[in-house]
Amino acid sequence: MEELIKKIPKAELHLHIEGTLEPELMLKIAKRNNIQLPFYNISEVKKLYDFNNLQSFLDIYYKSTNVLQNKQDFYDLTYSYLQRVQLDGVRHVEIFFDPQSHTSRGIAFSEVIEGIYEALVQGKKDFNISFFLIMSFLRHLSEEDALHTLEQSLPYKNYIKAVGLDSSEQGNPPSKFKNLFQKCQELGFLSVAHAGEEGPAEYIWEALNLLGVKRIDHGVRCVEDKNLISKLIESKIPLTVCPLSNVKLKVYENMKSHHIKELFDMGVRVTINSDDPAYFGGYILENYNQCMHHLGFTLDEMRQIAKYSIEGSFLSDIEKLNLI
Ligand code: HPA
Ligand code: ZN
Repeated sequence: MEELIKKIPKAELHLHIEGTLEPELMLKIAKRNNIQLPFYNISEVKKLYDFNNLQSFLDIYYKSTNVLQNKQDFYDLTYSYLQRVQLDGVRHVEIFFDPQSHTSRGIAFSEVIEGIYEALVQGKKDFNISFFLIMSFLRHLSEEDALHTLEQSLPYKNYIKAVGLDSSEQGNPPSKFKNLFQKCQELGFLSVAHAGEEGPAEYIWEALNLLGVKRIDHGVRCVEDKNLISKLIESKIPLTVCPLSNVKLKVYENMKSHHIKELFDMGVRVTINSDDPAYFGGYILENYNQCMHHLGFTLDEMRQIAKYSIEGSFLSDIEKLNLI
């Protein structure tokens, strides 16, 4: 069965490239950049990956990210991810990068984006995986800080398809970034936003109504609002759900209690993604497998979810048809 799921062409729509930094690569990059880490081996690193909530994860994630210093580091990070997910039947990726977590440490925007972009171009040649980049803003920082990052990105505008919103959700509603997203839209960027992961259903409404997003990242707390579920179904707005992430960050106690199957049965366009696979115990195929195993999806239903992922991507209609 797993072999069959693997063969289904899929798109990954919710993936933070910084969240693919495996401990092995982290140690290797730290060594070549002469960075002292507070641990020496992989099992010590993995012991730290026991999270209570989103914030406890973000604290470790941002610290680990500090090893990434130059273009080669970002290239290696991205190329390793593509090399890994070609094995999972991934044919298209739309990946997030968080420029502020690097520029705030004095790393040039150009080093970050050029490293990532060049690896994506090489990955397309080597693995036939098409791609788009989504520049994600950190919502715990100010709108002004994000606007400054937007300015820095403009020389690379052609490299970026869409903008997103991530980091600590509670207390940082989408409404905080209304002007920013308005400006991004005027510049021609599409938009998505994390909403309803830990934050309330109201944040999903805000992302839709104030930010004009084309997809909701996570969005699982829509289950608390029937009108919102109807809206998602009618407008065909996809949710980029990350089941293993939700269990690791205690949004759900376990896979069996996850709502993705109920949402699917109601007709919401749910997709399956890995979020930060180096931290959450599995890449995209493992997320598909565990959904099937714990939640009783049939193989045809898994095919439908993979189809939603391609339909919900930012590819053109012709490109989508070529993949499905
Ligand atoms: N939520 C919010 N911010 C993030 C996440 C997430 O799941 N992963 C990386 N940054
Ligand atoms: Zn995420």
